[in-house]
Amino acid sequence: MKKPYNFNGLKVTSFESRRAIEIEKLILYHGGVPRVAPSMREVPISESKEALKFAKELIAGNFDLVILMTGVGTRALIKAVSTKFDIKNIKSALKKTTIVARGPKPVAALREMKLKANIVVPEPNTWRDILIALENETELKGKKVAVQEYGISNKEFISSLRKKGAKVTSVPIYKWALPEDIEPLKAAIQSISNSKEDIALFTSSQQIYHLFEVAGKIGYLKKLKQGLKSTVIGSIGPTTSETLNRVGITPDYEPDSPKMGNLIREVARIGAELVNKKRIALKNGVDTNIWRPVDMIWSKGSQKSRKAITNDSVFMKACRLEETDYTPVWLMRQAGRYMREYRELRSKVSFLELCKTPELAAEVTLRAVDRLNVDAAIIFADILLIVEPLGVGLEFSKGEGPRIKRPVRSGKAVDRIKDFDPESLKYVYDALKITRRALDPNKALIGFAGAPFTVASYMIEGGGSRNYENTKGLMYRDPGAWHMVMEKLSTATASYLNNQIKAGADVVQLFDSWVGCLSRDDYKEFVLPHMKKLISDIKSGTPVIHFGTGTAALLDLIKESGSQVIGLDWRVDLDKAWKQIGYDKAIQGNLDPVLLFSTPSEIRKRTKKIIDKAKGRPGFIFNLGHGILPKTPVDNVLALIDFVHEYTHK
Ligand code: CP3
Repeated sequence: MKKPYNFNGLKVTSFESRRAIEIEKLILYHGGVPRVAPSMREVPISESKEALKFAKELIAGNFDLVILMTGVGTRALIKAVSTKFDIKNIKSALKKTTIVARGPKPVAALREMKLKANIVVPEPNTWRDILIALENETELKGKKVAVQEYGISNKEFISSLRKKGAKVTSVPIYKWALPEDIEPLKAAIQSISNSKEDIALFTSSQQIYHLFEVAGKIGYLKKLKQGLKSTVIGSIGPTTSETLNRVGITPDYEPDSPKMGNLIREVARIGAELVNKKRIALKNGVDTNIWRPVDMIWSKGSQKSRKAITNDSVFMKACRLEETDYTPVWLMRQAGRYMREYRELRSKVSFLELCKTPELAAEVTLRAVDRLNVDAAIIFADILLIVEPLGVGLEFSKGEGPRIKRPVRSGKAVDRIKDFDPESLKYVYDALKITRRALDPNKALIGFAGAPFTVASYMIEGGGSRNYENTKGLMYRDPGAWHMVMEKLSTATASYLNNQIKAGADVVQLFDSWVGCLSRDDYKEFVLPHMKKLISDIKSGTPVIHFGTGTAALLDLIKESGSQVIGLDWRVDLDKAWKQIGYDKAIQGNLDPVLLFSTPSEIRKRTKKIIDKAKGRPGFIFNLGHGILPKTPVDNVLALIDFVHEYTHK
């Protein structure tokens, strides 16, 4: 069994210079074989003409804004100017300007001088974030701005400031040169070129420029790029990733928080999987210098042989109540707002556009699987997409969730519901096709739909609800109309799911999130017949997961509905619920999603309790008891998934 957060002997190259020893130790600590090839030397301009000129103008009151880009640079700037000027004058002159700090490092440098930044740029501290922060706080037009720069001047940033009408003075404080001894760097280039390194870690943009500069000098530019195709690339943060993209290299991993420790720990966690995946892609003809998750090709074999592998996966076996080597795990709503990758995409397109663009929906689906290392993917979509072609009007407004424009509240309104044309949701099938092609055959792809009751409740209420007055109102007042809605939704949903299966879904889940508001009698009368019909209409051989919340009192009726797997919420004891349902059904659940806001040790403790309740019986799929919440810390999610795998491994 693989040790957690361990490179397990993978060869890891770093180009770090200032913190070379530290990174070597970190790689060793995480079980990697390090090669550290310092790629740069810091050249302080202690007699910098620019720095002295800046000091003179600063004291003369010529600047309105001073932007400090780095901590090291801020200290070097002060050191350089204090060779010629009284530090007191510098400080009081700085206090008269608006001091802008690009993140916590310049803030710390300022604090050492008992100075405070007026504007602190939020993470991830790219130059675009500086512009946004400035725009929110101040007018740039006509302002005199000094920018403490580091390394290569950021031309895009400077010209953007100028475009906004600022008069900009660049103050270069130190620059980077190649190290005096470039032999280690040459050796690293040769090793990567010969595909001898498994992982290359970049902790600054400058390292990339120097690596390519030296490779060019020794005639290895092409060979280096070729070698990088089979080497996993780790990038410390967005600026470094941007530089990698600019030189035609796609980073394979970037941590949420741009820290060396995070980069190494997180790449150690899934390094072996990343190396394996990248090399298979390369072998199958993918250009792994520049690639997207949807470009992945796992096998050039037939769909039939792919399906055979998936059917033999841990996840599919658990659905069929067969013994597995470990307990499979995935999380409801695993590809959502709590993930940086998702938020980045969502900042560019609306939620509905994202759902309706198959390549993007597939990308979101796949990124979550890669990042989390779960055993199944769930297609990115929503339970309410199906109501759009039914003609009731669907929108997702910011911060408020889904809205139905023409709620269905009478028999007449029920009659107006349009016939479902399954082709209207072709974009979901296309997303499934793309995802299935790019997804590891050892992982299952889950298609899904809302169960008729939950979807009906949105259609009738017009949005979320607390007491379901309109839904139950229609149900009691006009049972004929109610059954008509349920019938229309059940038929549409069966057809929708069968099309998802045709497109590549290996399993389908029905989300009946709100059905727990019903009494047993009402469930029997108003829901059960429709669920039975719906589930029996789903192509046989494809497991169905039937999930609901607040269903403790309904479990035997849910079993009667006929699915192979039953999803439990966190309110029930897993052992008691399973016993009540019967061991002829597989079970999925049931950690309280809010527990993910606690600590890794607390999460492990409570996860262990749940796993122990399953007593190693076949047919257990670990999951949360409801969808993951938007602000959940990703680190805790990773701790949960790793624990389930490690603890249950036989
Ligand atoms: O892994 C995944 O995220 C798969 C995709 C998925 C979404 N919704 C995406 C989504 C799945 C499986 C769902 C199911 C869903 N949608 C349910 C059932 C599960 C549950 O949590 O009970 C329900 C009730 C909905 C309806 C819905 N969609 C609501 C109430 C909301 C707004 C509030 C919320 O939870 O975000 C949505 C929007 C929605 N669906 C988002 C996502 C990622 C957020 C959209 C955004 O702002 O980017």
